[in-house]
Amino acid sequence: MSENIKFPDGFKWGSATSAHQVEGGNHNDWSVWEKSEERVQSLKFKGLNPSDFISGRACDSYNRFEEDFDIAKKLNQNIHRFSIEWSRIEPEEGKFNEKEMEHYKRLIDALRERGIEPMVTLWHFTNPIWFANKGGWLNRKAPEYFTRYVKYVVDNFHDRHSMSVMPKLWITFNEAITVWAGLSHLKGEWPPQHKNIFEFFRVRANFTKAHILAYREIKQLHDVTSFAALDQNGSMSHNVAVGLVENNFYFSGGKLLKILGVVKILNWLQICAWSKTLPYSDFLGLNYYTDYKLFGSKESDDGPAPEMPPWRIYPKGIYHRLIKLKKFKKPIYITENGIADGTDRLREKFIKEHLYWVWCAIQDGADVRGYMYWSLLDNFEWARGFAPKFGLVEIDYATLERKIRPSAYEYGKICLTNQLEVDSLSTKHEIRNPKQYQNSKS
Ligand code: FCB
Repeated sequence: MSENIKFPDGFKWGSATSAHQVEGGNHNDWSVWEKSEERVQSLKFKGLNPSDFISGRACDSYNRFEEDFDIAKKLNQNIHRFSIEWSRIEPEEGKFNEKEMEHYKRLIDALRERGIEPMVTLWHFTNPIWFANKGGWLNRKAPEYFTRYVKYVVDNFHDRHSMSVMPKLWITFNEAITVWAGLSHLKGEWPPQHKNIFEFFRVRANFTKAHILAYREIKQLHDVTSFAALDQNGSMSHNVAVGLVENNFYFSGGKLLKILGVVKILNWLQICAWSKTLPYSDFLGLNYYTDYKLFGSKESDDGPAPEMPPWRIYPKGIYHRLIKLKKFKKPIYITENGIADGTDRLREKFIKEHLYWVWCAIQDGADVRGYMYWSLLDNFEWARGFAPKFGLVEIDYATLERKIRPSAYEYGKICLTNQLEVDSLSTKHEIRNPKQYQNSKS
């Protein structure tokens, strides 16, 4: 007999994208770096074709967003996370581009017309050239520069005569502390490719400060009770909720590392990324993809993801991370979770198993409000170029034709019914049916 598990009423279902990865035609610090002599030479040296690592027109979603949102609607999604590209809004210092602002308003309206709630990210890894030239996130004034841009964006929704209504869900930064700071200023892999531990801490501090300033700015203009925005029945439609998105891995290790406290510290360090900004966050955004097995770990995960080594697949890890976050007593959105799998053989299982563990975390008290699969479309995967295929929708980069993958329809059924059929899960990991689960809790 098949058993269905139900998600809470009003749970949001959707997918995520980011500007530089799907829009095409961006001009920012990353697009300059993609084409730089140094980058091109280093790719050639590895025997790779540099043009596979240049974002170029990407998915051309800048022009095709309506088509993309039609697909999201067809797949029964009711929330969509996307990002505004700072370099489009403020291409020169202090000079704002009204036309680009209008573009994003149209995009937000297009989502709403399809019954999809917009979740807006204000920064997703890329910076305007002028900002990067000033030292980027190392600059003492970086938080103020960022807040000036945020103010411009939210001010534009303040205008009562504007047709476009202020979105309710805002994210200041995507993985600024847990990913970008390390890859760009410590490991030297992403632009500006620095390797300096002092810089690493400095940019992290600047992101924290910028989040707080931006939070205040948004709330000042569009307050009031943050939770009304998160309340499905919130009657005050102008209320907004602001959060921060960070990435968490799940670390496991053997006895020795446990005794030394290493596993605990590593798992704790990740949730620290949110802790300083807690009083200035109405919700937490969790991006979860993988676990890390340290020395002696006996955790049995599903092995490496096919197109993103060394990312290993471990669905139960999302449960562990959510239970850790529960202690902050904030609503949580899964803002990214996905697998790069061009064959589409693993995606359905991946989604269902992760959702099962999200559901378990909800049963155990985590206040999870929605799930956004990464990504709606195949896209430009940063330093890995176009090779990893995360999309629910396949993109033919030659013709830009969109083709919905079979797993997307399966996910679409869950989005429609707000339910997951547990018996359809075929996993080597422990799956308790809902009744057993309830029993094991008591
Ligand atoms: C996350 C990023 C997102 C995407 C996925 C695969 O770390 O936020 O843009 O690249 O990884």
